[in-house]
Amino acid sequence: MAHLHITSWVLAFILLAIVVSLAKKGNEKGAKITQMILRLDYLLILYSGGSLFASYASYGPLVIIKLLAGLWAIASMEMAAVKTYKHKPAGIWWTQFIIAVAIALILGFGFLPMGILPR
Ligand code: HEM
Repeated sequence: MAHLHITSWVLAFILLAIVVSLAKKGNEKGAKITQMILRLDYLLILYSGGSLFASYASYGPLVIIKLLAGLWAIASMEMAAVKTYKHKPAGIWWTQFIIAVAIALILGFGFLPMGILPR
């Protein structure tokens, strides 16, 4: 399940980069279609994250903070992508996205029981 989780959010980052680059080239239709695929990928992130949560919820408050950071990352990535291809100001969403992902990565890899980095 951890592999599915990591694969699905890495895929999300790639799709997000494609949405932004298509939007920058003025290909709004392509950006919208890629955004639809990105939304399907959110389901994989939520499913795998939800299953990990079911297994590790008893670990304590850090897992709950990790879950919230993950949800925050998805919400801010969705807003950043939509604002970018609509050519509206997106900076505040990108900032939130970076903070949320940083928290998710640090907790996920560094502090939680699934983590692969040394503690
Ligand atoms: C872009 C969004 C996300 C990123 C970058 C991210 C990142 C990570 C990372 C790095 C790990 C550790 C994996 C490992 O060491 O094997 C992890 C585990 C986990 N993630 Fe996420 N995640 C995201 C979204 C979510 C969401 C939306 C949820 C909840 C629905 C969630 C819930 C969890 C849980 C419960 C774990 C297991 C923690 C543990 O006990 O080690 N994640 N995530």
